[in-house]
Amino acid sequence: MSARRKLVAGNWKMNGTLAANAELLRAVRAGADTAACDLVICAPFPYLAQTADALLGSTMTWGAQDCSAHAQGAYTGEVSAVMLTDFGCRWVIVGHSERRQYHAESSALVAAKALQVLRAGLTPIVCVGETLAERDARQTLVVVGAQLQAIVDALKEAGQAQWIARVVVAYEPVWAIGTGRTATSAQAQDVHAFIRQLWRGAFAGSADGLRILYGGSVKPGNAAELFAQPDVDGGLIGGASLKADEFLGIAAAAQAVA
Ligand code: PGA
Repeated sequence: MSARRKLVAGNWKMNGTLAANAELLRAVRAGADTAACDLVICAPFPYLAQTADALLGSTMTWGAQDCSAHAQGAYTGEVSAVMLTDFGCRWVIVGHSERRQYHAESSALVAAKALQVLRAGLTPIVCVGETLAERDARQTLVVVGAQLQAIVDALKEAGQAQWIARVVVAYEPVWAIGTGRTATSAQAQDVHAFIRQLWRGAFAGSADGLRILYGGSVKPGNAAELFAQPDVDGGLIGGASLKADEFLGIAAAAQAVA
């Protein structure tokens, strides 16, 4: 039993069509139970309006997978956090490992994006995680610590105390994303406890409220054990969020341990 409300967020990544999304959103909405768990869909930008419409009047909320580090202006192709608020967006994933890896996003850039999200009144889901080479070299906590420290530093510099409680962190070991190879619940718990400890060192009062999601090959079959860990407050779900029964199965696991 944790004081923190569980959160399960689907990250569709660059998948979907109008027709497929309509069916997926209908099925997820029909089966969603948010009594003890927040349920979120993070869709690609062009489908956010469709997602908003499909979830209107439900207890589910939705978010984007990225946003600009800038507030507005001459940044062709970018989408600002403020634009997202026009449509009822609530969440924005920032610093996903695929963005760090394929778009060379630094921890400083990710922190700047998180601040834009917070400034717009939204909730950033800040992703951190090590590669397999880094884990093998026993650098997991060093890498995750440095990624998180960039957010801590940016929050301290911003000096907006009310932003701190809104941040959500997602621990996603890169070697577990889309590979079918999930971290063991003990591996996840170790890193989650470290993240909370680091947060406690920076913002003592908010550490117990910080929601820390696990991401990386979460499925209905392994979700319950992961979510039962004391510092695992839900999941960021990639592949399994594209199938209504799998996403709902994971959500049910979160409900059951909440
Ligand atoms: P996965 O992706 O569930 O497909 O491993 C998780 C993520 O990248 O957020």
